[in-house]
This record gives sequence, C-alpha cells and structure tokens, in this order.
Amino acid sequence: MNTIEKYKKYVNTSMVARVEPVVISKAKGATVTDIEGKQYIDCFAGISVVNAGHCNDKVIAAAKAQMDNLVHCCSYVYYSQPTADLAEKLAEITPGRLQKTFFGSGGAEAIEGALRLAKQFTGRTEFIALQASFHGRSYATLSVTGNVARKRKGGPYMVGCTFLPTPYCYRCFFELEYPKCHLRCARALEDIIRFNTYDSVAALIAEPVQGEGGIIVPPDDYFMEIDKILKKHGILLLVDEVQSGFGRTGKMFAIEHYGVEPDIMTMAKGIADGFPLSAFIAREEVADSFKPGDHLSTFGGNPVSCAAAVANIAYLQGEKVVENAAKKGAWLKGKLEELQAKHATIGEVRGKGLMIGIELVSDRSSKTPAAEGAKKVRDHCLNQGLLIGLGGVFNNVLRIQPPLVISQEQLGEVVNRIDQALGKV
Ligand SMILES: Cc1ncc(COP(=O)(O)O)c(C=O)c1O
Repeated sequence: MNTIEKYKKYVNTSMVARVEPVVISKAKGATVTDIEGKQYIDCFAGISVVNAGHCNDKVIAAAKAQMDNLVHCCSYVYYSQPTADLAEKLAEITPGRLQKTFFGSGGAEAIEGALRLAKQFTGRTEFIALQASFHGRSYATLSVTGNVARKRKGGPYMVGCTFLPTPYCYRCFFELEYPKCHLRCARALEDIIRFNTYDSVAALIAEPVQGEGGIIVPPDDYFMEIDKILKKHGILLLVDEVQSGFGRTGKMFAIEHYGVEPDIMTMAKGIADGFPLSAFIAREEVADSFKPGDHLSTFGGNPVSCAAAVANIAYLQGEKVVENAAKKGAWLKGKLEELQAKHATIGEVRGKGLMIGIELVSDRSSKTPAAEGAKKVRDHCLNQGLLIGLGGVFNNVLRIQPPLVISQEQLGEVVNRIDQALGKV
C-alpha cells in the first residue's frame, strides 16, 4: 500500500473535507518537495508554524544536539536546562510584565491552562470571547470558540462563556464603517458584561489577528478600547498568539501592534519551528496563583522542543526575520491589492506582515462569500506548485502565511501563480 492508501485505511481523516493530494517527502526554507520530486512554494507553513523555514539548519542542529543528551525527563518533575533557558527568553521577548511560563505541547493545551489560570487568579468563573474566534478543539477551547462550524454536535459546552461581535470591518456586525463607528464593536463589551454575564468574568480571550476566522485584523485602536473597559471591571486580557506569534505579523507578537499589555498570553505553532511545543506566560502574581496539584503536563516543556525553540528565537532575532517579514508582507499585500483591481472576485485583501487573507466574493456589492471559488483557486494553485491555506467563517478566504524566510523571488512567483489561478475561476 502506498501512503495515500494507508491513510485511507488506517488514519482517521473523516473530520477533514480532504487531505491535500500531496505526499510530502522533504522541505527546506519555503520549498516543499513531494515523493515524485515536484516542488511547491509553501504559503501555509504547516498552518503558520515553520516561521524560520522548514528544517532550519540552526534549529535542527540545536534539536539534534539536545537529542544526544536528553529527550525527556518531565520538566515539572526534574529541572531541564533548555526549558529554563526558553522561559527566560520568553520573559525577555514578550510584552510588558509577562514573566512566568507554563509549557504544554499544543495550542489547545496552552489555552486550557491559561483559562484555568485566569479563574484561579481572579476567583471568577466566566469568559468573554470574540465571534469568529478559534482557540482549539478541546472542550474549554471550543467553548470559547465563536464559530458554529467548529462546535456543531459537540455541545453542551462550558457554561459562563459569552461572545462579543468581532471587529470584522468588511462584514461589520453593526453595519457601520470605521472610524465613524467609534469602535461600536469594542464599546459593546460594556453591554455584554452588563446583560450577558453574572458579573464573574475572569478574562476576555482574543486573537490579535483572527487566523482561522479569516485573517481578521481589528482597527489599530480596538484593543486599547477593549483594555480600558476590561480594566474598569477587573477582567484579565488573555491574548491568544498561537497563530500570530513569533514574527508572523511583522512584530514578534501581534499584540505589539496595538500597545496594550496582556495579563496572560498563549503561544504554540511558530514557537519551535515545527517541534511540538506550546506555552502560556503570565505576570508573576498571576502565574503564582497556581498552587501545588493545580496543573501539569507530562510532555510540556520537552527538552528537545525547548532547545529548538531557543535556537528558533535566536534565528528570528539574529537574522532580522521579523523586520523582514513586515517588509515582505507590505510588498506582497500591495501586489495582491493590485490583483484586486483585475479580479472582481477579490472582495478584500487584509493582513499584517506575512499573515494575509484574500476574501473572495461572488458579487462585491452583496459580498456573497465565494467558498467554491476559493476552493478552486486553492486547487489551481496546488496544480501550479503553490500551497496556500483556506479559511474564514464562510470558507472563502485564501490564507497566505508562508515561512517568513520566503525569498523575494518566490514571493514574485506567488503573486503570478495566484493571479493565474484567479483567472481560471
Ligand atoms: C489562534 C489559535 N489558537 C489555538 C489553536 C489551537 O492550536 P492546536 O491546533 O495546536 O491545538 C489554533 C490552531 O489553529 C489557533 O489558530
């Protein structure tokens, strides 16, 4: 049996519409090669993970060296050096007073822990999340995920979760226009607290740029307004940087675009350039509200993943990858906006850094989502040797989230191939 046949027989993939028909055998930088030797430019980075590039030499060397010495000890039963080194580094590169990290293995696990920590610190039990948000596939993370397509048949969910209209300006919940709206969606938070809660809100959880929801970028002053209201009510700001962190948006963390300081922040995906690892970091007094017995993870803070993460961050900083992602992203967004003039199906191009969404519509005035068209564009791209993602609450957003090390020449090719694919639908 070949790989695809084995998948069909033995791998449970019934929860995805399909696995892309590419058997990947190797990858380097922003190039992926399949078993037949066909090369693809990767614009999805394994869902926004390999920011420093596939098989980055420095990251791989650090992981290999660590593997020769220690793979696992449980970093909460015994001390592990790379775990300590990474925690120190995260305290340095994360905003504000974020200082103490708990490590897990995947994004959902980090968010589960962060939600629990918010409850422990505040002594409160409720959460507010954003509509169109995505925070993971576990019970608590689905409870704060604001998208019915991810939650159907899984309920009932955790009590005490309520949702705030998201800052999706292209499809404004209030049918207003920024800036004339005076951030109606952020100001709605007062009403949500007043009418939808029992006045026991521990935290508001939000992605600084919504990824799965369709690369939804809030107005620059949105989080300032949110933060003001949260502070008034003693509610924590829990920022989910699982998808937007580690240089993806042209800053080390996307929340830095907005000048607010999170109380707790979650990370995963880009943290270790492909090695499984996640984390949540909090201010010291918040972190210390966990007491013995309250939390643990067997694999969390795995020494190999932590060594890879330390090397990954050193690479991102040393090679100016983050600054360059901002420049490359601005260039690419400009080129895609030029395509918007040519292809009527492009409703909006939006994003920050190399986290770019192209929302497709069948009619610009009604903004009818073109989900089928988006699928076709993705398929045409694949045939032309370009891997892109698909997402959005209406499944009509092309997601361009390449490894940040993608070359200028490759970016030029990306624009050409997307242009050609759009011309075919
Ligand atoms: C913002 C955000 N949070 C959490 C998660 C869940 O991460 P994981 O799939 O590693 O559990 C994701 C995954 O896409 C995400 O985008």
